[in-house]
Amino acid sequence: MAFKVLIADKSDKICETILKERGLEPVVKTGMTPEELKACIGEYDAIVVRSATTLTADILKEAKNMKVAVRAGAGYDNIDVAAAKENKIVVMNTPTGNSQSAAEHAFALMMALARQIPQANTSTHAGKWEKSKFKGVEICGKTVGIVGCGNIGKIFADMAHGHHMTVLGFDPFLSDEVAAKLNIKKVTMDELYAKSDFVTYHTILTPETKGMVNKEAIARMKKGIRLINCSRGAIMNEQDILDGIASGQIAGLACDVYANEPAKEHPFFGNENIICTPHIAASTKDAQIRVAQQAAEQIADFLIDGNKRNAVKGSY
Ligand code: MLT
Repeated sequence: MAFKVLIADKSDKICETILKERGLEPVVKTGMTPEELKACIGEYDAIVVRSATTLTADILKEAKNMKVAVRAGAGYDNIDVAAAKENKIVVMNTPTGNSQSAAEHAFALMMALARQIPQANTSTHAGKWEKSKFKGVEICGKTVGIVGCGNIGKIFADMAHGHHMTVLGFDPFLSDEVAAKLNIKKVTMDELYAKSDFVTYHTILTPETKGMVNKEAIARMKKGIRLINCSRGAIMNEQDILDGIASGQIAGLACDVYANEPAKEHPFFGNENIICTPHIAASTKDAQIRVAQQAAEQIADFLIDGNKRNAVKGSY
């Protein structure tokens, strides 16, 4: 009997196609409630999720036949990795599939912040012609600090160099050799905050990074800094950010991610110095094809050949 794979979140068709080609049986069931998922998850050998489905300990306990859970994306904070391990389920992600898209979105947000493009667009559509209100800054010659120099941070660095920016980086896992090769100046968080005109965050959510952008961190930043967050909303203390903006310490924030998603209401909404997008950094046709393809191939390789790729630490 073929291995059954549940595709629980909207994924590109290529995921199903590859699974079928490899002799597996994909079943697409999206938009299930946690109860519905709990009731059916026991039938499957593998599951593909994006960010809409949360695999809690409670749900994973019912996944009696499951061998592998794949997050078609980079961040896997919607999967309880410890609970997966307890239930002998290997967790995998597809860490490179959407890096280019995420870096491009972060870069676009940096440009949008520098020139207040969304605000100017809204104002112009409203017939206001506020030419003198929207005086921006250039990015050329400025310093950008990258917090988290993994796949996305590295691509961002390359784009920043193309725009003649000085690139500082903070990442405990970035070796001196790689930093030198990429022309990223490795610095402490203190130095990064003190010298950067822009800071972009590309870190995963861990107990260490949760709430890291708080009052104390903001006080160490260069006055008038501009922040970009395409990582996870919970790395920021929202009230501290709003206070930093009100005092002028932070000139602007561009934000793609929120502590609670979907975010239909949020204290950032309506603030004229904050640009918001609805967690779309990885939402390009190109990235979605790549992550769906990688997810399917990783599942097939694991179920058929026992070949473990991009398995998340702590799940095996
Ligand atoms: C990711 O973790 O891969 C990104 O946040 C993309 C997403 O969840 O849509």
